[in-house]
Amino acid sequence: MSKGKFVTIEGCEGVGKTTQVELLKKRFAGRGDVLFLREPGGTPISERIRGVILDVNNGEMCGTCEVLLYSAARAQLVEQVIKPALDRGVTVICDRFTDSTLAYQGYARGLGADTVETLSSIACAGLTPDVTVFLDLDPAAAFSRKGGADKSDRLEQEGMEFHSRVYEGYKLIAKKYPERVVCVPADGNVEQVHKSVMDVLEERGIL
Ligand code: TMP
Repeated sequence: MSKGKFVTIEGCEGVGKTTQVELLKKRFAGRGDVLFLREPGGTPISERIRGVILDVNNGEMCGTCEVLLYSAARAQLVEQVIKPALDRGVTVICDRFTDSTLAYQGYARGLGADTVETLSSIACAGLTPDVTVFLDLDPAAAFSRKGGADKSDRLEQEGMEFHSRVYEGYKLIAKKYPERVVCVPADGNVEQVHKSVMDVLEERGIL
């Protein structure tokens, strides 16, 4: 049996990522050969780590702790869910993955791309996405469309400067990995963006 394809969806807060993932879920509803996941999370252990990372009461968390927690949640998800699914021929579509760590912790937190890439390759045991859809919209536009930041999410509460650095990080990642990362402009209406995402999946032979 051929291995399943691994797709990741990336973007800054408020770009409409959740909406686009929901549309994909509807599109693939009833198909046992497509699995949707979100990061951090996707296993009982990873969901508990998610709770710790995003808890607004954990404001004192240092950047190194944060990146290691994301990596720990990912290691469990890759080992317990993603690799076995791909081996069964299942297509895995993951809402955020290693590029989030690179953009948020590597670039925006300033931990460095090399450090984060090393951690990610350990956490994923070498697994990389076949294709990454980057929903491209700058954070100022994204937040004004969304109507402000989510107060219950520690990362989302960061200031606009942080989110601008996340966006610049994503742009650098797209430049560095042009074969894997496809930029989809996310300033159109929901249906237009969905069509562009579907076009990418079709072109890459995911559907
Ligand atoms: P979400 O809002 O898409 O559910 O993502 C949760 C938050 O975690 C979001 O603010 C982005 C952030 N994040 C990182 O900072 N690094 C990571 O590696 C991942 C997966 C998410």
